[in-house]
Amino acid sequence: MHSKRLNPDLITLVSDQSDIEYTQWVSQTLGARIYSESSGNQPKSKTPYLLRVSGNTIQLEFVRDKRKPFIPVIAPGFPARGIDPLLRAIGVKQGAVIDMTAGWCADASRIASSGCSIVAFENNPLVYVLAQNAIEHCQNSLIRQHLDLRHADSIQTLQSETTEADVIYLDPMFPLQKRDAASPKPITLLRELVNHSQGRYSFDRMLDVAMSSNARRIVVKRPHHLPATQRGKVGEIKSKQIRYDIYYPGPNIESRFHPVLSQSNS
Ligand SMILES: C[S@@+](CC[C@H](N)C(=O)[O-])C[C@H]1O[C@@H](n2cnc3c(N)ncnc32)[C@H](O)[C@@H]1O
Repeated sequence: MHSKRLNPDLITLVSDQSDIEYTQWVSQTLGARIYSESSGNQPKSKTPYLLRVSGNTIQLEFVRDKRKPFIPVIAPGFPARGIDPLLRAIGVKQGAVIDMTAGWCADASRIASSGCSIVAFENNPLVYVLAQNAIEHCQNSLIRQHLDLRHADSIQTLQSETTEADVIYLDPMFPLQKRDAASPKPITLLRELVNHSQGRYSFDRMLDVAMSSNARRIVVKRPHHLPATQRGKVGEIKSKQIRYDIYYPGPNIESRFHPVLSQSNS
């Protein structure tokens, strides 16, 4: 498995041990020792985060500030009117999609509930454990059936394994802007957790790997203020806050999709 290791000084794993199998899976995935409050077994020093496991549910607690615990939920937000611009950009109804940047799976779950099957990669172990728990407790059976979240580095996986996908989706972390302080809590927390992990976030490499794949279309989510990488870009779909850039991979690949002209969805 190609994935990032978690800094052991970052998180304390506390479990009521009522689902031992699940607690052990969390512990192995995070590489974190299990503490149990009832046995009085406590870590020597305080970490900024505490992950509390009760049965097969989890919540992330913030030891150094007064934020409310974060309970992961899959709640794909759809536009009130019209077709979701993300789904227009994906462009297939029942195809196979790879999401190289799963995060909280908000986008992956929208794609899964449209009928596509989607394999989503997340390399941050804490984000992965939280998102996986949200999928398991999700009420939407289409999402549970069609969304396969994997703890792995998508760049390395796509380089070393043959992956069959109609579409590859990338949502790289946008550079921080001043107004982001007001952005919704899950996104702010995701940025905070990902910033703790080592290694440079390599969007260029990610796009290179996607462009050398057998996929027929690459979709990249970008904010309006950031220019697209033009190489191979064939179109874009705009919504109020973001833009989906569309690329056809390979040097001369014949695409079964029609080229997409600039479209906007407000
Ligand atoms: C902006 S977030 C994606 C948010 C996501 N689209 C959603 O709907 O929640 C980017 C995510 O990609 C993950 N990531 C970055 N590089 C990765 C890689 N090489 N392999 C797998 N995941 C990666 C980060 O840990 C982060 O969680």
